[in-house]
Amino acid sequence: MQIDPLKIPNHVAVIMDGNGRWAKQKGMARVFGHKNGVKAVREVIEAAREIGVKVLTLYAFSTENWNRPKKEVDILMSLLVNSLKDELKGLQENNIKLQTIGQIQNLPKKAQRELQEVTHLTQNNTAMVLNLALSYGAREEIVNTIKNISKKVVNKQLSIEEINENIINNHLYTFTLPDVDFLIRTSGEKRISNFLLWQIAYAELYFTNVLWPDFRKEDFFKAILNYQQRERRFGKISEQIENDNE
Ligand code: IPE
Ligand code: IPE
Ligand code: MG
Repeated sequence: MQIDPLKIPNHVAVIMDGNGRWAKQKGMARVFGHKNGVKAVREVIEAAREIGVKVLTLYAFSTENWNRPKKEVDILMSLLVNSLKDELKGLQENNIKLQTIGQIQNLPKKAQRELQEVTHLTQNNTAMVLNLALSYGAREEIVNTIKNISKKVVNKQLSIEEINENIINNHLYTFTLPDVDFLIRTSGEKRISNFLLWQIAYAELYFTNVLWPDFRKEDFFKAILNYQQRERRFGKISEQIENDNE
């Protein structure tokens, strides 16, 4: 089976899970798994770019991940800084723009600086958006959104009657991005773990047992093929969808 170029999801989001278990299986420390997850990140970025995905959101660190042992958190943060340095060239060559969502202000200064630099240097790239979710939690995002909308109401820039789904979309961290079409989670866990709750309202979900450090382009393409066999009805009935496609 071939990937249909006319049915590529615009926005793919990935919960990159299973690094710790991958390392444990090999009798190694958890951080060994994180280090080996970097290759999978590169493969997925390349694969998504190759088939014409417009936005790729990667869940790299959640608000809840701050509760992990400090040593693990520190290593994840330094891996982030080093990977950004290593990926810059590839992002430029492939015309990929880096963006972030989450409480970036809570990251170590060094990571913030690196993110700012790569974001700035790639801001005019147009082939794909690589959106990194860092210190991201969907509930925190919604709290932040409500605060920002409330401020506008208090300042009389906005009336309560004007609040609608569009206004909410425009105040989320993802305000520049389309809804998620396809959500992939590796490692066999079947949960959302506080990721993009609003944006996945109508996403297709895909769960695979592959652990993140083992995830390769072929696994990504297999997931896309699975997505392409689905019928997205958005509440309508099949016959209406078939007519829409004619
Ligand atoms: C995903 O792998 C990476 C992060 C959450 C940062 P895990 O570290 O969660 O690996 P498991 O789930 O414990 O195997
Ligand atoms: C979700 O994975 C967060 C990321 C992949 C960054 P976790 O491993 O933190 O999720 P839970 O705790 O198992 O739900
Ligand atoms: Mg996990």
